[in-house]
Amino acid sequence: MKQKSFIQLLKYGNKHLILTILGIVLSAVSAVLAVIPYIFLWNICKELIDVYPNFQNAVNIESNALWAVGTSIASILLYFLGLICTHLAAFRVASNMRKVAIKHVMKLPMGFFNEQQTGTLRKVIDENAAETETLLAHNLPDLAGTIVTPIAIIVIIFVINPILGAVSLIPIIWSIITLFQMMGGNNSGFMKKYMEALEKMSSEAVEYVRGIPVVKTFNQTVYSFKSFKKVINDYGKFASDYALSCRKPYTWYTIALNLYFALLVISATIMFLVTGNPLSILLDVIFYILFTPLVVTMMNKIMYATESVGKTDIIINRLNQILNIKPMEIANNNNKIINGEIKFENVYFSYTNDEKYAIQDVSFEVKKGETIGFVGPSGGGKTTTASLIARFFDRNKGKITIDGIDIKDIPFTELMNKVAFVFQDNRLFHDTLYNNVKMAKPNATDEEIRKALSYAQCDDIIEKLPDGLNTVIGAGGVYLSGGEMQRIAIARTILKDAQIIIFDEATAFTDPENEVKIQKAFKHLTKNKTVIMIAHRLSTIKDADKIIVFNKGKIIERGNHNELLEKNEFYAKMWKNYQKSISWKIGGEVKC
Ligand SMILES: Nc1ncnc2c1ncn2[C@@H]1O[C@H](COP(=O)(O)OP(=O)(O)OP(=O)(O)O)[C@@H](O)[C@H]1O
Ligand SMILES: [Mg+2]
Repeated sequence: MKQKSFIQLLKYGNKHLILTILGIVLSAVSAVLAVIPYIFLWNICKELIDVYPNFQNAVNIESNALWAVGTSIASILLYFLGLICTHLAAFRVASNMRKVAIKHVMKLPMGFFNEQQTGTLRKVIDENAAETETLLAHNLPDLAGTIVTPIAIIVIIFVINPILGAVSLIPIIWSIITLFQMMGGNNSGFMKKYMEALEKMSSEAVEYVRGIPVVKTFNQTVYSFKSFKKVINDYGKFASDYALSCRKPYTWYTIALNLYFALLVISATIMFLVTGNPLSILLDVIFYILFTPLVVTMMNKIMYATESVGKTDIIINRLNQILNIKPMEIANNNNKIINGEIKFENVYFSYTNDEKYAIQDVSFEVKKGETIGFVGPSGGGKTTTASLIARFFDRNKGKITIDGIDIKDIPFTELMNKVAFVFQDNRLFHDTLYNNVKMAKPNATDEEIRKALSYAQCDDIIEKLPDGLNTVIGAGGVYLSGGEMQRIAIARTILKDAQIIIFDEATAFTDPENEVKIQKAFKHLTKNKTVIMIAHRLSTIKDADKIIVFNKGKIIERGNHNELLEKNEFYAKMWKNYQKSISWKIGGEVKC
């Protein structure tokens, strides 16, 4: 356990830290109290042996028994009281960690929310909370108890019989050494590596399940298991290596604990032979025998507690992974977007924050009300360029302005209100169709929502749904096709009525009927707006005011459709190929 991580973790409890401390103190006191009944039990045994065989002379048995029961109950009560304190504090730490993470995430660029990052976020929110609770609420007070108990035991065993005390100390020290051998040395980073291996295995499992349709489609067999199988093997090897490395110390550990009893008997016999006082030695041995189970429980507790306290690093690292992502600078002024004129000047952007630029030296301008088409091969940088306008990510170099104002100086809510994005793959919420559209403008009237849906050519979708607008999407077997989802996303964007529209055309859903509908919906969406249309079907942007051709992250051509055809270079070739693909399609259809 690294102290730094541990202090960091406790700090998340704010003023509830006092509860953690109180819980630990109570648990420690309870641990000491748990040892006391053994002294009273010993007193009882002593008295019984003293008065033997006239047991009626034993007068202190009752009071000793009462004290033994009383201290046991007090120990249990204090332990539970301590647990209540540590639980309250642990819940607070876990909930504060969640709050800090979520608060930070809200300030991160939208590009953060890809699948991988949301997976990390889920871990911080769900798993960290569960692990923190176990750690702070149970393991920590137990650890405090297990540290105090040996001290109490050592004091008592020495007070009762120094020789037997010294003898019992040998196996205790021995077991502590073997315990640290298991936890320290090469095995010190075990917990971290173990968690990493486990996480890798579970993410590969998810990836594997996700990929099953592809595996089946391509009739793949054992090879598709390869990476999944590898992480399982790695994990298995790692776990068995660890188990093997613990084999020796664990054997010694078990021997040490069991040796306790043997040593006791041997030394008692020797003492008996030397002193010739069987009764008092027997008495002492009884006391030490009573103590044996306590020592074993204590050692096992230490083992589990140290193992789980080792998780602190993992918990804190996971959280820091999110907190270390730089938040977006958010402007706090009254700048407004009025016309929606966009300008890029020599913009560079890298997803990996290095020289591997996804787009390079991109410059272009879109005037008010213009429609610009982005075209080019897959991976050319079209979506990346468009996403910089909505600050999904912040550019690395260059300048992006809207109406002459740097987008970093436009308040984020203003930017979000005035820029609307229709994605390549749209996600609808598990909610009614009505609410899915309404979220774009919470104060929209029913009339406005119906109109937006109608402009977006969604009438046929509503008609076929069992509860019309009130049908919950994704429930009870109600699923929509990709094209239908795209039209609903358009309805949502129409309702939003933003100044700038970015439309990332889906590559799929090319059936002619849907295409015609999307084109119609798109016309309504883009009326009097500044539009950036990322097109895969070139017919979509044939009439655009300007077409920008991207390849390998750079702009390689620009102009309108006719100008680019005349140039007879990249775009002209793309157009020819596009025409050919259409004629093939038509040919195919005729044949059918
Ligand atoms: N989230 C991401 N993280 C890292 N690299 C990315 C990410 N998204 C895209 N890229 C990379 O950036 C480059 C540009 O991708 P982009 O998505 O902008 O292309 P595109 O022109 O929109 O392609 P398509 O026509 O297939 O949609 C590609 O090399 C791609 O691999
Ligand atoms: Mg794209």
